[in-house]
Amino acid sequence: MSDIIVVEGLVKKYGDKAAVDRLDLRVTKGKMFGFLGPNGAGKTTTVRVISTLTDFSEGKVWVGGYDIAKKPREAKKLMGVIQQHISLDKDLTVRENMMHHAMMHKIPPGDRKKRIEELSLYVGLDGYMDRMIDSLSGGWKKRAAIVCSLIHEPEILFLDEPTVGLDIQARRLLWDLIRKLNDGGTTIFLTSHYIEEIEALCDNVGIIDNGRLIAMGTPSDLCNKIGSTAVEYHGKDGRTVYRYFPSRGEANDFAATLDETNTVLIRNTSLEDCFVELTGKKVEEK
Ligand SMILES: Nc1ncnc2c1ncn2[C@@H]1O[C@H](COP(=O)(O)OP(=O)(O)O)[C@@H](O)[C@H]1O
Ligand SMILES: [Mg+2]
Repeated sequence: MSDIIVVEGLVKKYGDKAAVDRLDLRVTKGKMFGFLGPNGAGKTTTVRVISTLTDFSEGKVWVGGYDIAKKPREAKKLMGVIQQHISLDKDLTVRENMMHHAMMHKIPPGDRKKRIEELSLYVGLDGYMDRMIDSLSGGWKKRAAIVCSLIHEPEILFLDEPTVGLDIQARRLLWDLIRKLNDGGTTIFLTSHYIEEIEALCDNVGIIDNGRLIAMGTPSDLCNKIGSTAVEYHGKDGRTVYRYFPSRGEANDFAATLDETNTVLIRNTSLEDCFVELTGKKVEEK
């Protein structure tokens, strides 16, 4: 399996502060990579560096084999980015925004209309093409942004916190679309601070905290790292204690030693357990 994104020792500083601190990452071609971390962890900065939207202080980044410091233009052609704060023009219609992107990406004039129509149909936006961007709800705006980002047919799509601010139904619909894009062969780099989103979508996960990579692997790799079986118990003081074990047998043996006044639950370890255990905090915490 080939790695379409390779990041080694990446540092991005703002003044003295490293927003990204000696980060190593690998994203496998065709997979869905989830970059999980709390607010301020460095997710957006990482996406902006890899996608050549901003420079970096130290390290190396290759995209599709191109060193982005030496061949930014070649690398950029392989990537589409949907930033957290959508950068569509509010004063234009959906179609006009798409045309604008097609021109920016130098899509030959004869191909523009067809490509826009095909992509809009694909994401279900075909009935909304003459609406002003600002008249659309968050989910449909995201879809318009997705079409704009796919217009040059990139191999990799970055989605930075794509479902923040969407209601549950719009979020589920967007998940389906992201899965469809990935099934069609597009490598997805998704950032989120929602554990359930990463759990629902991603083949591989990187956990970032304070600019540093805490762990990387499949969700089950990460659970095995801390122990695949969790024992959760709380006693009279109301405090819940979590312990992790490599097997059910060991978890059962431990549970048998607990005082019978404790309420005990034995279950599979979740990605949330991994996050809390590895970073020492809850993901929604700042
Ligand atoms: N343009 C900037 N100038 C100064 N500091 C920044 C800038 N952008 C981000 N930071 C800081 O870098 C850190 C990482 O931010 P960011 O990458 O946006 O995190 P995330 O996307 O995970 O919430 C934060 O401490 C943030 O305040
Ligand atoms: Mg961010």
